[in-house]
Amino acid sequence: MNLYERNQKQREFFNEKIDTYDDVHESFMETKKALVDNLDKDTNKILDLGAGTGLELIPLFEKYPNASVTVVDISEKMLEELSKRDFASNIKTICGDFFEVDFGNNYDAVISTSALHHFKPEEKNILYKKIYDSLKTGGMFLNCDKISFTIAEQNHSIYELDNNIDNYKHIDTPLTVETEVNILETQGFSDITSSEVDKSNYRLTKAFKK
Ligand SMILES: C[S@@+](CC[C@H](N)C(=O)[O-])C[C@H]1O[C@@H](n2cnc3c(N)ncnc32)[C@H](O)[C@@H]1O
Repeated sequence: MNLYERNQKQREFFNEKIDTYDDVHESFMETKKALVDNLDKDTNKILDLGAGTGLELIPLFEKYPNASVTVVDISEKMLEELSKRDFASNIKTICGDFFEVDFGNNYDAVISTSALHHFKPEEKNILYKKIYDSLKTGGMFLNCDKISFTIAEQNHSIYELDNNIDNYKHIDTPLTVETEVNILETQGFSDITSSEVDKSNYRLTKAFKK
């Protein structure tokens, strides 16, 4: 199964999860607030990759009520829920695959929470290049997401992905912080930091386009 087909499986997965999504994921609100707390105070034009129902956008619009946010998400059901939020009029939505759609450009920040841990290193290189190109000079990429603690763990999940392809629906392939940093540097990012956000396997990675 190629990347396009895997991403369509993700779309089905999230479309099916819509009735319970917010109840399950509201317990991760601290990680989403941590991301918002790390944005620069003059941030205005934002791209949110995989915003889903928009949980991270709740604290974001509390702090930045005039922000202009573009969302890319492959699940039309998740975006339907997002469109019911009271800040929906400040959002432009693009329903499609990260690897297929045009992100636009000149963003102050590209943000993402819990949405980018399904790609192999070679796929993330392509995605992070797209993110880099969409930022303005001085712009920031902030990603709060799952990581693997060891290379063995990372390689094991990629092996699972490659070898359970017939049953593929939703296999997590989080990369280690070292792999993430290496890919970000390769794609031109600078001043890269990674910090804990809670006691789980989530990390907040921050990187700049200089
Ligand atoms: C776990 S949810 C996270 C939603 C939200 N950011 C949050 O933290 O609650 C992951 C989201 O990423 C979207 N997604 C996954 N793979 C995608 C892809 N290849 N292109 C676009 N969206 C994708 C899913 O549809 C889903 O809405």
